[in-house]
Amino acid sequence: MRRRLGRRGWAIVVVLLALGLSTPVIAQQLTTTVPLPEADTPTYEAQYGHWETIELPDTDRVNAVHTALLHTGKLLIVAGSGANQAYFEAGTFKTLVWNPVTGEAKLVPTPSDFFCGGHAFLPNGNLLVAGGTQRYEVPAEKIEYAGGALKIENRLPVTRQVPAGTTFVSYAGGLYKSDETITLPPATPIPGKHNRGRFQPSLEDVRINSVVKGAAGVLAQGGTYHIQGLSKKLAASLNVFAGAMTLEKEQWEGANFAAEFDPITERYVYVLPMPHKRWYPTLTTEENGNVLSVSGIDGAGLVQAGATDVFNPHTGRWSKGPVRYFPTYPALFLMDSGKLFFSGSTTGYGSASKGRQPGLWNLKNNTFQLVPGLPEPGEVETSGSVLLPPAQKQKVMLIGGGGIGESPLTTARTAIASLAGRNPSYTRGPNLAAPARYPLSAILPDDTVLVTGGSEQYRGEHESDIHLARIYNPETNSFSVAAPPEIGRDYHSEAILLPDGRVATLGSDPLYANKADTVVGRFEQRIEIYSPPYLFHGPRPVVTGGPSAVARGGAATFTTPDSGEIEKVRLIYPSAGTHDTDVEERSIAISFTRTPGGLHIKIPSSAGLVPLGWYMLFVDNNKGVPSVARWVQVT
Ligand code: CU
Repeated sequence: MRRRLGRRGWAIVVVLLALGLSTPVIAQQLTTTVPLPEADTPTYEAQYGHWETIELPDTDRVNAVHTALLHTGKLLIVAGSGANQAYFEAGTFKTLVWNPVTGEAKLVPTPSDFFCGGHAFLPNGNLLVAGGTQRYEVPAEKIEYAGGALKIENRLPVTRQVPAGTTFVSYAGGLYKSDETITLPPATPIPGKHNRGRFQPSLEDVRINSVVKGAAGVLAQGGTYHIQGLSKKLAASLNVFAGAMTLEKEQWEGANFAAEFDPITERYVYVLPMPHKRWYPTLTTEENGNVLSVSGIDGAGLVQAGATDVFNPHTGRWSKGPVRYFPTYPALFLMDSGKLFFSGSTTGYGSASKGRQPGLWNLKNNTFQLVPGLPEPGEVETSGSVLLPPAQKQKVMLIGGGGIGESPLTTARTAIASLAGRNPSYTRGPNLAAPARYPLSAILPDDTVLVTGGSEQYRGEHESDIHLARIYNPETNSFSVAAPPEIGRDYHSEAILLPDGRVATLGSDPLYANKADTVVGRFEQRIEIYSPPYLFHGPRPVVTGGPSAVARGGAATFTTPDSGEIEKVRLIYPSAGTHDTDVEERSIAISFTRTPGGLHIKIPSSAGLVPLGWYMLFVDNNKGVPSVARWVQVT
């Protein structure tokens, strides 16, 4: 049934082309590269691969807003409230652990709304999940009480709390309340001898609302506020100020809860909360193994001004990182040099002019070296980014994207950042099959990259999901055609390489369900799995034994009866993706020597190249066919 639909889809495209209803560029690409597929024939599959659709039972379906591959081979699918306000209000937050080989699924207790938070793997294989949703947005027509963002600075070196329901008095005498309890971190000592006894105040944001309905609570100007009933002494240690109070739409608000998901016990274990509240943050691993949490929307609905938080996986403590502003969900990749490369990709919110230029960020001295040459720099929002395989080449591909916000601009441009030398720069890559926001990518074990899905318009408007896939080969800097997926994937979707060499795609959150954009869209809950052409190219090599842990910079021997025909060994760090942002996934080329019945491998020693943690060890034979991966922990 599915395949027939697929063929009918192509037939329609061809008819449209014959009628001249499509653009010449697309016409050329489709007619020259895609035959009408006899999808199930071995010849077709060996050239284009094969997609298969999976529908989980009703009880196991979740909105895949976040997906990560655990070292147990299972997918961690995190919905939280899953873009569903009713679930948010009911406190119904969901996480599913799903085994893509056996189909076994398990819902996991999820106490906090991790919807639109961030995540990064830790050296022990746990997934650090931090931030999420404190409040859903409220459209202007539902706003009865004027409100806005209030900031409180704490000048004392002690933690203090401002309880929910506290009354704030504006400079004009108006009364406002917050229904959140605000925890104010202690002020921190300013370093340096001459600063002894001086403290840098901590800062917290919260939304306050007028206690009187309607326009009476509106205040066009920001200014100083005070807290009702506070003693003079305490009041003197706090600075309270707020922006304008309006009846405009109330923005989404970020949260600061944080937990480690343990793949063995399949449970969340709470850790200390992140110092700053964040919705749409990026979490990325640093050279030293700490995790840096960047950007996001704060507790008052504003984009973080630049404060970053650092999680130390050994102590479980958070500290301050370098201050730098980025729009939300910035794509930040750890490079061999220890610097983070910001590709330019972001998704969600942020200044149109600030923090959008690609560059290399040196965390040690907080300097930022711009990387020039990105074509169509105004169309990078909702683009994809991937550290190309093998990671030693230090190249990042930026894929598609569009104008800021709901801009109608979308591009088919790809660009390759070459970051190894002294003069890092972008050059234009081959165009996608169609202009795409939210394109998905997954590194394959043969050093190619599957690029699939996306939509031509903002959040799939006007049924613009792209049912096309391509495979990018970094060696030839070109795309080849892959079998078209059945299911469209736009906002809130992911593509994840599985240990058996297949790729799972999940999620998609179109605004509308019809071409006229008159019917509200539904979150896509079907999973689709792609088997690349290499799975139809003959027997797979096998790795039969070897250690489960190897030191970074160390060596190890793995047994295989196929040693004579092995041509590549790759360590692939598992994906953890959301909102076009997957900065975890990387494939490292491993040098090896053949031994009788085995392979002796050597792990590179660079901490910027090889973050500690669990990897998939793939071996590829001389026909480009990969083994099923063996999980190895780099320690
Ligand atoms: Cu989101």
